[in-house]
Amino acid sequence: MIAPSILSADFARLGEEIEVVSGTGDARADWVHVDVMDGHFVPNLTIGLPVVESLSRVSRVPLDCHLMIEDPDRWAPDYAERGAYNVTVHAEAAHDPVMLAKNLRAAGAQAGLSVKPGTSLEDYLEVLKHYDTLLIMSVEPGFGGQSFIPEVLDKVRRARRLVDTGHLRLLVEIDGGINDETIEQAAEAGVDCFVAGSAVYGAKDPGVAIERLRERVNR
Ligand code: DX5
Ligand code: ZN
Repeated sequence: MIAPSILSADFARLGEEIEVVSGTGDARADWVHVDVMDGHFVPNLTIGLPVVESLSRVSRVPLDCHLMIEDPDRWAPDYAERGAYNVTVHAEAAHDPVMLAKNLRAAGAQAGLSVKPGTSLEDYLEVLKHYDTLLIMSVEPGFGGQSFIPEVLDKVRRARRLVDTGHLRLLVEIDGGINDETIEQAAEAGVDCFVAGSAVYGAKDPGVAIERLRERVNR
């Protein structure tokens, strides 16, 4: 799966920017990734509930909301209620991640848990049994256009093994520095869903960029 991140899109034309990646065939995004940042959990600030609600009304593909915010226990279920398909919270920020996953599902969304590059998976193995997706950050969260941190591939391989051996049942997603080269390494390590911001919206034709990324995964 390919999930273009609108963090690298033109914020004055978000509806059109989502339309551009909701084309047909291999040019079509599977999900659209929406980065919510609060200026506290990460130093950057982006968008919040009202924008997500508007985008969920116009998007033809499911919204994948990545919440880089403090106190996700309080806010994340609201994103589910406003139409996000998958809502991902950060393990480092959640107070009661098991309860949070239950609340997200009760609000009608899939539940995602994200770990920063320095956060180990081992501390969250029990928690992850309650989640539908695991978002492995391959850059420090906060900004688009950073370089892929290859050390996280070990974490991806461990997650893949846990899924393949039946210990966990979730989709393995990666976010940060994904481009034509790094996507091949991530695919080899066992990623199911690839978030790409600058590689898609920085390209002249985002649809063609999605096709190219897909081709690399299927090689
Ligand atoms: C970073 C965000 C990413 C970002 C990725 O904190 O979570 O989703 O948009 O951008 P690229 O693909 O440019 O690294
Ligand atoms: Zn993200």
